[in-house]
Amino acid sequence: MAIFSTLYLILGVSQLYWAWRGYSLAAARIPSRAWRWAVCAAVLAAYLAAYEYNMGAWREAVTPVRLTLRDALLAAPFLWWAISSLVAFMVAILFAIPRGIVGGARRLLARRRAAGPEIQSPPRRQFLERTATVATAAPFVAGAYGLLYGRLNLQVTAQTIRLANLPRAFEGFRICQLSDIHIGPFMPAEEIRKYAAIANAQKPDLIALTGDFVTFDPHTQQAVVDALSGLRAPFGVYGSLGNHDAWAGVEDSITELFRQTGVRILRGASVPIADRGETFNLMGVDFQSSRRFGPSPPVKHLLKDIEGMVDPHRVNILLSHNPDTFDRAAELGIDLSLAGHTHGGQAALEFISPEIAPSRLVTPYVAGLFHKPGSQLYVNRGIGTIFIPIRIGAPPEITIYSLSRG
Ligand SMILES: [Fe+2]
Repeated sequence: MAIFSTLYLILGVSQLYWAWRGYSLAAARIPSRAWRWAVCAAVLAAYLAAYEYNMGAWREAVTPVRLTLRDALLAAPFLWWAISSLVAFMVAILFAIPRGIVGGARRLLARRRAAGPEIQSPPRRQFLERTATVATAAPFVAGAYGLLYGRLNLQVTAQTIRLANLPRAFEGFRICQLSDIHIGPFMPAEEIRKYAAIANAQKPDLIALTGDFVTFDPHTQQAVVDALSGLRAPFGVYGSLGNHDAWAGVEDSITELFRQTGVRILRGASVPIADRGETFNLMGVDFQSSRRFGPSPPVKHLLKDIEGMVDPHRVNILLSHNPDTFDRAAELGIDLSLAGHTHGGQAALEFISPEIAPSRLVTPYVAGLFHKPGSQLYVNRGIGTIFIPIRIGAPPEITIYSLSRG
Protein backbone atom coordinates (compact mmCIF):
# COMPACT_ATOMS: atom_id res chain seq x y z
CA MET A 1 0.00 0.00 0.00
CA ALA A 2 2.90 2.32 0.86
CA ILE A 3 4.33 1.72 -2.64
CA PHE A 4 1.04 2.77 -4.27
CA SER A 5 0.71 5.88 -2.05
CA THR A 6 4.27 6.93 -2.89
CA LEU A 7 3.71 6.36 -6.61
CA TYR A 8 0.47 8.37 -6.46
CA LEU A 9 2.32 11.24 -4.75
CA ILE A 10 5.12 11.19 -7.34
CA LEU A 11 2.47 11.04 -10.09
CA GLY A 12 0.85 14.21 -8.65
CA VAL A 13 4.17 16.06 -8.54
CA SER A 14 5.05 14.85 -12.05
CA GLN A 15 1.76 16.25 -13.40
CA LEU A 16 2.58 19.68 -11.93
CA TYR A 17 6.05 19.44 -13.53
CA TRP A 18 4.58 18.63 -16.96
CA ALA A 19 1.99 21.41 -16.59
CA TRP A 20 4.87 23.83 -16.02
CA ARG A 21 6.83 22.41 -18.98
CA GLY A 22 3.70 22.61 -21.15
CA TYR A 23 3.03 26.24 -20.19
CA SER A 24 6.71 27.17 -20.81
CA LEU A 25 6.45 25.63 -24.29
CA ALA A 26 3.20 27.48 -24.99
CA ALA A 27 4.75 30.77 -23.78
CA ALA A 28 7.69 30.28 -26.18
CA ARG A 29 5.60 29.25 -29.21
CA ILE A 30 2.35 31.28 -28.89
CA PRO A 31 2.99 35.03 -28.68
CA SER A 32 -0.70 35.98 -28.28
CA ARG A 33 -1.64 35.78 -24.63
CA ALA A 34 -5.31 35.12 -25.40
CA TRP A 35 -4.49 32.20 -27.75
CA ARG A 36 -1.99 30.80 -25.26
CA TRP A 37 -4.58 30.71 -22.49
CA ALA A 38 -7.19 29.26 -24.86
CA VAL A 39 -4.83 26.40 -25.85
CA CYS A 40 -3.87 25.76 -22.21
CA ALA A 41 -7.55 25.76 -21.16
CA ALA A 42 -8.44 23.27 -23.94
CA VAL A 43 -5.58 20.92 -22.95
CA LEU A 44 -6.55 21.17 -19.27
CA ALA A 45 -10.23 20.44 -20.06
CA ALA A 46 -9.26 17.32 -22.09
CA TYR A 47 -6.93 16.19 -19.29
CA LEU A 48 -9.60 16.63 -16.60
CA ALA A 49 -12.22 14.79 -18.72
CA ALA A 50 -9.83 11.84 -19.21
CA TYR A 51 -8.86 11.92 -15.50
CA GLU A 52 -12.49 11.95 -14.40
CA TYR A 53 -13.32 9.06 -16.75
CA ASN A 54 -10.44 6.93 -15.47
CA MET A 55 -10.51 7.82 -11.77
CA GLY A 56 -13.98 9.31 -11.25
CA ALA A 57 -17.49 8.07 -10.65
CA TRP A 58 -18.83 8.11 -14.22
CA ARG A 59 -16.82 5.09 -15.29
CA GLU A 60 -19.19 2.22 -16.16
CA ALA A 61 -20.40 0.28 -13.12
CA VAL A 62 -19.80 -2.95 -15.03
CA THR A 63 -16.38 -3.42 -16.66
CA PRO A 64 -16.88 -3.81 -20.42
CA VAL A 65 -15.58 -7.04 -21.93
CA ARG A 66 -15.05 -5.44 -25.34
CA LEU A 67 -13.01 -2.41 -26.33
CA THR A 68 -15.44 0.52 -26.16
CA LEU A 69 -14.93 3.84 -27.96
CA ARG A 70 -14.65 5.60 -24.60
CA ASP A 71 -11.91 3.22 -23.45
CA ALA A 72 -10.06 3.62 -26.75
CA LEU A 73 -10.30 7.44 -26.75
CA LEU A 74 -10.23 8.31 -23.05
CA ALA A 75 -8.75 5.42 -21.06
CA ALA A 76 -5.91 4.21 -23.32
CA PRO A 77 -4.33 7.65 -24.03
CA PHE A 78 -4.72 8.72 -20.39
CA LEU A 79 -3.14 5.53 -19.00
CA TRP A 80 -0.32 5.82 -21.57
CA TRP A 81 0.21 9.43 -20.52
CA ALA A 82 0.05 8.65 -16.77
CA ILE A 83 2.74 5.96 -16.77
CA SER A 84 4.94 7.55 -19.45
CA SER A 85 4.90 11.00 -17.83
CA LEU A 86 5.63 9.47 -14.42
CA VAL A 87 8.70 7.58 -15.69
CA ALA A 88 9.83 10.53 -17.85
CA PHE A 89 9.60 12.80 -14.79
CA MET A 90 11.86 10.46 -12.83
CA VAL A 91 14.33 10.40 -15.75
CA ALA A 92 14.25 14.23 -15.87
CA ILE A 93 15.01 14.33 -12.13
CA LEU A 94 17.94 11.91 -12.63
CA PHE A 95 19.43 14.31 -15.18
CA ALA A 96 18.58 17.44 -13.15
CA ILE A 97 20.38 16.31 -9.96
CA PRO A 98 23.94 16.05 -11.39
CA ARG A 99 23.29 19.15 -13.53
CA GLY A 100 22.29 21.08 -10.39
CA ILE A 101 25.38 19.89 -8.50
CA VAL A 102 27.76 20.80 -11.37
CA GLY A 103 26.03 24.18 -11.88
CA GLY A 104 26.26 24.97 -8.16
CA ALA A 105 29.95 24.01 -8.04
CA ARG A 106 30.63 26.15 -11.11
CA ARG A 107 28.93 29.20 -9.60
CA LEU A 108 30.88 28.70 -6.35
CA LEU A 109 34.16 28.47 -8.25
CA ALA A 110 33.37 31.58 -10.29
CA ARG A 111 32.55 33.52 -7.12
CA ARG A 112 35.87 32.50 -5.52
CA ARG A 113 37.79 33.57 -8.56
CA ALA A 114 35.91 36.87 -8.33
CA ALA A 115 36.86 38.56 -11.57
CA GLY A 116 37.99 35.31 -13.24
CA PRO A 117 36.06 33.92 -16.24
CA GLU A 118 33.35 31.31 -15.60
CA ILE A 119 34.41 27.85 -16.72
CA GLN A 120 31.95 26.76 -19.38
CA SER A 121 31.87 24.19 -22.10
CA PRO A 122 28.95 25.05 -24.44
CA PRO A 123 29.29 21.98 -26.75
CA ARG A 124 29.33 19.64 -23.76
CA ARG A 125 26.38 21.40 -22.17
CA GLN A 126 24.46 21.21 -25.45
CA PHE A 127 25.25 17.50 -25.72
CA LEU A 128 24.04 16.87 -22.17
CA GLU A 129 20.86 18.85 -22.77
CA ARG A 130 20.11 16.89 -25.95
CA THR A 131 20.80 13.59 -24.17
CA ALA A 132 18.42 14.63 -21.37
CA THR A 133 15.70 15.51 -23.92
CA VAL A 134 16.04 12.16 -25.73
CA ALA A 135 16.11 10.21 -22.43
CA THR A 136 13.01 12.08 -21.19
CA ALA A 137 11.16 11.40 -24.46
CA ALA A 138 12.05 7.66 -24.42
CA PRO A 139 9.37 6.61 -21.85
CA PHE A 140 6.64 8.15 -24.04
CA VAL A 141 7.87 6.23 -27.10
CA ALA A 142 8.30 3.00 -25.09
CA GLY A 143 4.82 3.45 -23.57
CA ALA A 144 3.24 3.84 -27.03
CA TYR A 145 5.10 0.72 -28.21
CA GLY A 146 3.91 -1.26 -25.17
CA LEU A 147 0.30 -0.13 -25.65
CA LEU A 148 -0.02 -0.60 -29.40
CA TYR A 149 2.28 -3.58 -29.99
CA GLY A 150 4.01 -5.00 -26.89
CA ARG A 151 0.85 -6.17 -25.13
CA LEU A 152 -0.43 -7.93 -28.28
CA ASN A 153 2.85 -9.53 -29.38
CA LEU A 154 2.00 -13.07 -28.23
CA GLN A 155 4.82 -15.57 -27.88
CA VAL A 156 4.13 -19.30 -27.89
CA THR A 157 6.99 -20.70 -25.83
CA ALA A 158 8.07 -24.33 -26.24
CA GLN A 159 9.60 -25.65 -23.01
CA THR A 160 10.93 -29.16 -22.48
CA ILE A 161 10.61 -30.37 -18.87
CA ARG A 162 12.81 -33.30 -17.89
CA LEU A 163 11.44 -35.41 -15.06
CA ALA A 164 13.43 -38.32 -13.66
CA ASN A 165 10.41 -40.43 -12.70
CA LEU A 166 8.16 -39.72 -15.65
CA PRO A 167 6.26 -42.89 -16.65
CA ARG A 168 7.01 -44.05 -20.19
CA ALA A 169 3.39 -43.51 -21.23
CA PHE A 170 3.88 -39.75 -20.71
CA GLU A 171 7.06 -39.37 -22.77
CA GLY A 172 6.37 -36.35 -25.00
CA PHE A 173 3.11 -35.51 -23.14
CA ARG A 174 2.24 -31.87 -23.93
CA ILE A 175 0.68 -29.40 -21.49
CA CYS A 176 -0.48 -25.97 -22.66
CA GLN A 177 -0.60 -23.20 -20.03
CA LEU A 178 -2.58 -19.96 -20.18
CA SER A 179 -2.46 -17.57 -17.27
CA ASP A 180 -3.55 -14.12 -16.03
CA ILE A 181 -6.35 -13.54 -18.52
CA HIS A 182 -7.70 -10.36 -16.85
CA ILE A 183 -10.75 -9.95 -19.07
CA GLY A 184 -11.69 -6.29 -19.64
CA PRO A 185 -11.72 -3.59 -22.30
CA PHE A 186 -8.06 -4.22 -23.12
CA MET A 187 -8.42 -8.02 -23.05
CA PRO A 188 -11.84 -8.36 -24.69
CA ALA A 189 -13.72 -11.67 -24.84
CA GLU A 190 -13.07 -11.80 -28.60
CA GLU A 191 -9.31 -11.57 -28.02
CA ILE A 192 -9.45 -14.37 -25.42
CA ARG A 193 -11.24 -16.60 -27.95
CA LYS A 194 -8.33 -16.02 -30.34
CA TYR A 195 -5.84 -17.09 -27.66
CA ALA A 196 -7.97 -20.17 -26.93
CA ALA A 197 -7.91 -21.04 -30.66
CA ILE A 198 -4.10 -20.63 -30.69
CA ALA A 199 -3.86 -22.94 -27.64
CA ASN A 200 -6.07 -25.57 -29.33
CA ALA A 201 -4.00 -25.33 -32.52
CA GLN A 202 -0.95 -26.53 -30.55
CA LYS A 203 -2.86 -29.81 -30.04
CA PRO A 204 -1.87 -30.19 -26.37
CA ASP A 205 -2.72 -33.32 -24.39
CA LEU A 206 -3.84 -31.25 -21.39
CA ILE A 207 -4.54 -27.54 -20.80
CA ALA A 208 -3.68 -25.74 -17.54
CA LEU A 209 -5.16 -22.36 -16.57
CA THR A 210 -3.36 -20.66 -13.69
CA GLY A 211 -5.74 -17.98 -12.49
CA ASP A 212 -6.58 -14.28 -12.55
CA PHE A 213 -9.45 -14.79 -14.95
CA VAL A 214 -11.02 -11.47 -13.86
CA THR A 215 -9.41 -8.31 -12.45
CA PHE A 216 -11.78 -6.66 -9.96
CA ASP A 217 -15.28 -6.89 -11.41
CA PRO A 218 -17.28 -10.06 -10.61
CA HIS A 219 -19.71 -9.22 -13.45
CA THR A 220 -17.06 -10.25 -15.97
CA GLN A 221 -16.76 -13.87 -14.81
CA GLN A 222 -19.40 -15.34 -17.12
CA ALA A 223 -17.80 -13.69 -20.16
CA VAL A 224 -14.32 -15.04 -19.42
CA VAL A 225 -15.67 -18.56 -18.79
CA ASP A 226 -17.60 -18.38 -22.10
CA ALA A 227 -14.52 -17.14 -23.94
CA LEU A 228 -12.44 -20.05 -22.62
CA SER A 229 -15.15 -22.66 -23.07
CA GLY A 230 -13.80 -23.64 -26.50
CA LEU A 231 -10.54 -25.02 -25.06
CA ARG A 232 -10.12 -28.69 -25.91
CA ALA A 233 -7.56 -31.30 -24.88
CA PRO A 234 -7.92 -35.12 -24.73
CA PHE A 235 -6.78 -35.33 -21.08
CA GLY A 236 -8.90 -32.36 -20.02
CA VAL A 237 -8.73 -28.67 -19.06
CA TYR A 238 -7.76 -27.94 -15.45
CA GLY A 239 -7.17 -24.70 -13.57
CA SER A 240 -6.34 -22.91 -10.35
CA LEU A 241 -7.46 -19.50 -9.09
CA GLY A 242 -5.53 -16.24 -8.70
CA ASN A 243 -5.48 -13.37 -6.23
CA HIS A 244 -7.75 -11.25 -8.45
CA ASP A 245 -10.35 -14.03 -8.55
CA ALA A 246 -10.30 -13.93 -4.74
CA TRP A 247 -10.37 -10.12 -4.58
CA ALA A 248 -13.37 -10.03 -6.95
CA GLY A 249 -15.10 -12.58 -4.68
CA VAL A 250 -15.74 -15.06 -7.52
CA GLU A 251 -13.77 -18.10 -6.31
CA ASP A 252 -16.84 -20.30 -5.72
CA SER A 253 -18.99 -18.96 -8.53
CA ILE A 254 -16.36 -19.07 -11.28
CA THR A 255 -15.39 -22.60 -10.22
CA GLU A 256 -19.02 -23.63 -10.72
CA LEU A 257 -19.28 -21.77 -14.07
CA PHE A 258 -16.13 -23.52 -15.29
CA ARG A 259 -17.48 -26.88 -14.09
CA GLN A 260 -20.53 -26.39 -16.30
CA THR A 261 -18.26 -26.04 -19.35
CA GLY A 262 -16.14 -29.08 -18.47
CA VAL A 263 -13.18 -27.19 -16.96
CA ARG A 264 -12.15 -28.45 -13.52
CA ILE A 265 -10.70 -25.89 -11.11
CA LEU A 266 -8.48 -27.57 -8.51
CA ARG A 267 -8.87 -25.83 -5.15
CA GLY A 268 -6.63 -27.67 -2.73
CA ALA A 269 -7.39 -30.80 -4.73
CA SER A 270 -5.63 -33.41 -6.81
CA VAL A 271 -6.57 -35.59 -9.75
CA PRO A 272 -4.77 -38.57 -11.30
CA ILE A 273 -4.02 -38.18 -15.01
CA ALA A 274 -3.94 -41.70 -16.42
CA ASP A 275 -2.68 -43.15 -19.68
CA ARG A 276 -2.09 -46.81 -20.57
CA GLY A 277 -2.13 -47.90 -16.94
CA GLU A 278 0.30 -45.22 -15.72
CA THR A 279 -0.52 -41.97 -13.95
CA PHE A 280 0.84 -38.67 -12.73
CA ASN A 281 -0.64 -36.56 -9.98
CA LEU A 282 -2.04 -33.13 -10.92
CA MET A 283 -2.76 -30.75 -8.04
CA GLY A 284 -4.03 -27.19 -7.76
CA VAL A 285 -4.26 -24.55 -5.03
CA ASP A 286 -5.88 -21.13 -4.62
CA PHE A 287 -3.64 -18.06 -4.39
CA GLN A 288 -1.60 -18.14 -1.21
CA SER A 289 1.31 -16.03 0.01
CA SER A 290 3.36 -15.96 3.18
CA ARG A 291 3.19 -12.14 3.07
CA ARG A 292 0.10 -9.94 3.14
CA PHE A 293 -0.68 -9.20 -0.49
CA GLY A 294 -3.39 -6.58 -0.97
CA PRO A 295 -6.56 -7.81 0.75
CA SER A 296 -5.20 -11.41 0.81
CA PRO A 297 -4.14 -12.37 4.35
CA PRO A 298 -0.75 -14.05 4.86
CA VAL A 299 -0.72 -17.86 5.00
CA LYS A 300 1.50 -19.32 7.72
CA HIS A 301 2.04 -22.76 6.20
CA LEU A 302 2.12 -22.60 2.40
CA LEU A 303 0.55 -25.57 0.56
CA LYS A 304 -0.75 -27.04 3.82
CA ASP A 305 -4.00 -27.93 2.02
CA ILE A 306 -2.26 -30.33 -0.39
CA GLU A 307 0.51 -31.72 1.85
CA GLY A 308 -1.26 -35.06 2.18
CA MET A 309 -1.94 -35.31 -1.56
CA VAL A 310 1.68 -35.37 -2.71
CA ASP A 311 2.40 -38.90 -3.90
CA PRO A 312 6.09 -39.84 -3.47
CA HIS A 313 5.68 -42.76 -5.91
CA ARG A 314 4.37 -40.66 -8.80
CA VAL A 315 5.28 -37.47 -10.65
CA ASN A 316 3.52 -34.54 -8.95
CA ILE A 317 2.60 -31.40 -10.91
CA LEU A 318 1.14 -28.36 -9.15
CA LEU A 319 -0.91 -25.47 -10.55
CA SER A 320 -0.30 -22.50 -8.24
CA HIS A 321 -0.95 -18.92 -9.36
CA ASN A 322 1.69 -17.55 -6.99
CA PRO A 323 5.24 -18.71 -7.87
CA ASP A 324 6.27 -18.03 -4.25
CA THR A 325 4.90 -21.45 -3.29
CA PHE A 326 7.87 -23.01 -5.15
CA ASP A 327 10.20 -23.17 -2.12
CA ARG A 328 7.60 -25.15 -0.15
CA ALA A 329 6.71 -27.24 -3.21
CA ALA A 330 10.36 -28.29 -3.50
CA GLU A 331 10.39 -29.26 0.20
CA LEU A 332 7.27 -31.38 -0.36
CA GLY A 333 8.86 -33.18 -3.33
CA ILE A 334 6.59 -31.67 -6.00
CA ASP A 335 8.36 -32.26 -9.31
CA LEU A 336 6.94 -29.35 -11.28
CA SER A 337 5.05 -26.15 -10.38
CA LEU A 338 3.27 -24.09 -13.05
CA ALA A 339 2.63 -20.48 -11.99
CA GLY A 340 1.73 -17.03 -13.31
CA HIS A 341 0.93 -13.88 -11.31
CA THR A 342 3.93 -11.71 -12.24
CA HIS A 343 3.03 -10.92 -15.88
CA GLY A 344 6.80 -11.21 -16.39
CA GLY A 345 6.97 -7.80 -14.72
CA GLN A 346 4.64 -6.39 -17.43
CA ALA A 347 7.36 -3.79 -18.04
CA ALA A 348 10.81 -5.35 -17.86
CA LEU A 349 14.18 -4.25 -19.17
CA GLU A 350 14.38 -7.46 -21.19
CA PHE A 351 17.25 -6.18 -23.36
CA ILE A 352 19.39 -6.20 -20.19
CA SER A 353 17.62 -8.98 -18.26
CA PRO A 354 13.98 -10.03 -17.84
CA GLU A 355 14.77 -10.14 -14.12
CA ILE A 356 14.91 -6.31 -14.04
CA ALA A 357 11.19 -5.84 -13.57
CA PRO A 358 8.81 -4.35 -10.96
CA SER A 359 7.72 -7.89 -9.98
CA ARG A 360 11.22 -8.46 -8.67
CA LEU A 361 10.15 -6.34 -5.65
CA VAL A 362 7.64 -8.99 -4.58
CA THR A 363 9.09 -12.29 -5.84
CA PRO A 364 12.43 -13.75 -6.94
CA TYR A 365 10.52 -15.79 -9.55
CA VAL A 366 9.60 -13.28 -12.26
CA ALA A 367 9.46 -15.33 -15.47
CA GLY A 368 10.72 -18.56 -17.04
CA LEU A 369 12.17 -21.79 -15.65
CA PHE A 370 13.66 -22.18 -12.16
CA HIS A 371 15.33 -25.21 -10.60
CA LYS A 372 15.75 -26.57 -7.08
CA PRO A 373 16.98 -30.05 -6.23
CA GLY A 374 14.25 -32.43 -7.42
CA SER A 375 11.86 -29.63 -8.28
CA GLN A 376 11.20 -27.18 -11.11
CA LEU A 377 9.04 -24.10 -11.54
CA TYR A 378 7.90 -22.35 -14.68
CA VAL A 379 6.45 -18.83 -14.40
CA ASN A 380 4.25 -17.95 -17.37
CA ARG A 381 4.01 -14.23 -18.24
CA GLY A 382 0.24 -14.43 -18.80
CA ILE A 383 -1.73 -12.81 -21.58
CA GLY A 384 -3.52 -9.93 -19.82
CA THR A 385 -2.45 -6.73 -18.11
CA ILE A 386 -3.44 -4.86 -14.95
CA PHE A 387 -3.66 -1.12 -14.18
CA ILE A 388 -2.05 -0.03 -17.43
CA PRO A 389 -2.63 -1.84 -20.75
CA ILE A 390 1.08 -1.80 -21.57
CA ARG A 391 3.73 -4.52 -21.87
CA ILE A 392 7.37 -3.72 -22.46
CA GLY A 393 10.00 -6.45 -22.57
CA ALA A 394 7.49 -8.95 -21.17
CA PRO A 395 5.37 -10.15 -24.11
CA PRO A 396 2.19 -12.14 -23.48
CA GLU A 397 2.82 -15.86 -23.43
CA ILE A 398 1.24 -19.23 -24.02
CA THR A 399 3.57 -22.02 -22.88
CA ILE A 400 3.68 -25.52 -24.38
CA TYR A 401 5.51 -27.96 -22.09
CA SER A 402 6.80 -31.21 -23.46
CA LEU A 403 7.43 -33.74 -20.68
CA SER A 404 10.45 -35.93 -21.11
CA ARG A 405 12.05 -38.68 -19.05
CA GLY A 406 15.55 -37.78 -17.91
FE1 LIG B 1 -2.47 -11.36 -12.89
